[in-house]
Amino acid sequence: MAILSVENLTKKFGGFEALRGVSLSMERGETVAIIGSSGSGKSTLLRCINNLERVSGGRIEIDGELLVDTVNGQVKYPPERELRRICMKTGMVFQQFNLFPHLTCLENITIAPIKILGQNRADAIANADRLLRLVGLENKADSYPAMLSGGQQQRVAIARALAIDPQIMLFDEPTSALDPELTAEVISVIAKLAEQDMTMLIVTHEMEFARTVADRVLFFEDGQIIAGGAAAEFFANQQNERIKRFLNGFQK
Ligand SMILES: Nc1ncnc2c1ncn2[C@@H]1O[C@H](COP(=O)(O)OP(=O)(O)O)[C@@H](O)[C@H]1O
Ligand SMILES: [Mg+2]
Repeated sequence: MAILSVENLTKKFGGFEALRGVSLSMERGETVAIIGSSGSGKSTLLRCINNLERVSGGRIEIDGELLVDTVNGQVKYPPERELRRICMKTGMVFQQFNLFPHLTCLENITIAPIKILGQNRADAIANADRLLRLVGLENKADSYPAMLSGGQQQRVAIARALAIDPQIMLFDEPTSALDPELTAEVISVIAKLAEQDMTMLIVTHEMEFARTVADRVLFFEDGQIIAGGAAAEFFANQQNERIKRFLNGFQK
């Protein structure tokens, strides 16, 4: 059974259609990379899946539960409490890290488990320590985000997203704000999660990362998925001229 199923998703901003009938499905443990030009709707898709945006039409099912459905043209979301619970099934990592600047790394990671999931403090801290070790920052628990490099901040943001024990991790250009050497340390954390069979949907401009870490690639253009397939095949044997041009633009 699919852990994520998106059907015929549309999203309008005023008269502009940012998503024009997007469908995709993910199996548990899969890593899927989304690539495509700027403005093609990649972030909007992730934001709809994480309920940061309300959809204009379509259906999103996460781990067997409906986040949103459209019946007879009417968009239907579940009641607020249920919606919040379903949203906790996805963890989101943003390009700009978005850590709380006034909280330490440890507090950034424990705030949602304590305040939203109602975990007791000791358990939340023990789990945060484990996650800080996972991202290689066990000595930064008491540091504030401003004291860390961008790469370190992003690794804390990954630990924070993992702390709610999500079924699916959503990454929106997690390395786009980073220098190459900091990009590598973030990519290696994500690659480690892939090895541990975390389910991940990753928007990225790092083609080598998509090729080596993702199982599958989806190509976005003008609010639609216009192509996709197994990552190795997609990059090695691309036939679509438009996509070839896009990929060539990333060659060094
Ligand atoms: N809140 C918003 N209001 C109006 N237009 C938006 C908003 N968010 C995104 N858009 C537009 O929707 C399109 C898709 O944006 P986005 O999903 O951010 O693209 P991508 O992540 O692929 O660069 C763009 O044309 C963008 O300007
Ligand atoms: Mg974007």
